Amino acid sequence: MNSNVPVITIDGLAASGKGSVASEVATRLGWNLLDSGLFYRVVAFLVDRYSLSLQDVSPIVDMIIKTTQFVYSNAGVSVATSSSNCEAQTQNTFLLDDSHRVGYVRWNGNDITREVRSDRISKIAARVAASEQIREVLRPKQRERRQPPGLVADGRDMGTVIFPDAPLKIFLEASLAVRVSRRIRQLGLTETKAEFQRIEKTMQERDNRDTLRKVAPAVAAVDAISLDSSDQTLTETVEVVINLAKERQIVS
Ligand code: DC
Repeated sequence: MNSNVPVITIDGLAASGKGSVASEVATRLGWNLLDSGLFYRVVAFLVDRYSLSLQDVSPIVDMIIKTTQFVYSNAGVSVATSSSNCEAQTQNTFLLDDSHRVGYVRWNGNDITREVRSDRISKIAARVAASEQIREVLRPKQRERRQPPGLVADGRDMGTVIFPDAPLKIFLEASLAVRVSRRIRQLGLTETKAEFQRIEKTMQERDNRDTLRKVAPAVAAVDAISLDSSDQTLTETVEVVINLAKERQIVS
C-alpha cells in the first residue's frame, strides 16, 4: 500500500449521495476514484450468472482469486485499449471505469453497467458484502487503487477498514425520504406513491443489512466528519469536502 498517497474517504448508506460527491471531488482534484460498491456488485453479478450459493462461499472466494481480474480505466485511458489488453488472460475480467461521473462496467467485453446497478443485483450484493471471507479477498484489490496523486474512495468501510489512516474521512448522510427519491431517479422510474413505498421498503432492508452486519458495518469512523446532504446541492456538498481538504492541507 502506498501510504504516502493522500486518500479522502466518503462513506454512507445507499443513495446518500456519496457516489456523486466522491466522483465530483475526484474530478475537481484530478485524483483517482474508487467506487468500492462495484466490487460487491460484480461478485453478486457472478453469483447470479453462475447460479452460485451464498451458503458456502469457498467456491466464490476461489473464483475471485483464480479466475477474476479487475482492471481500472482512468479518465483519459481508452476503455477499448484497456479491455483488449486484458480480456484473454482470465475467465472473468471486469473493467471498472469509475473515474468519470457515471461508472461504467464491462465484463469480458460486455457492457453490464445497468445490470450491476439493478435492484436484483443490489439485493445479492448486500448478501455478498456480509461475507467476511469475500471481503477479505477484495480488500487488497481496493487498496491497489491508492495511486498518485491521490484517491477519493467511496463505500461503507473506506474510513474504518480499508484506509484507516486517511487524512480526511467523511460520513455522508441524508434522510430516508431524500434517499428514496434519489434512488427512484437513479433507476429512471416515475415517483408514484406505490413506487416510493416499494423502494423505501427495499432500501430499509438494505440499510439494515449494511449497518447491522457483523463485518465492516456501514458506520462512521470515530474520526470521520458527518455531513447531512439532505438540503444541499451536490455542488454545495463538494465545496464543503474540498474546503475541509484545504483546511487539513491535503490539497492546496
Ligand atoms: O454503494 P453500493 O450501493 O454500490 O454498494 C453495493 C453493496 O455493497 C451494498 O449492499 C453495500 C456494500 N458495500 C460494502 O459493504 N462495503 C463497501 N465498501 C461498499 C459497498
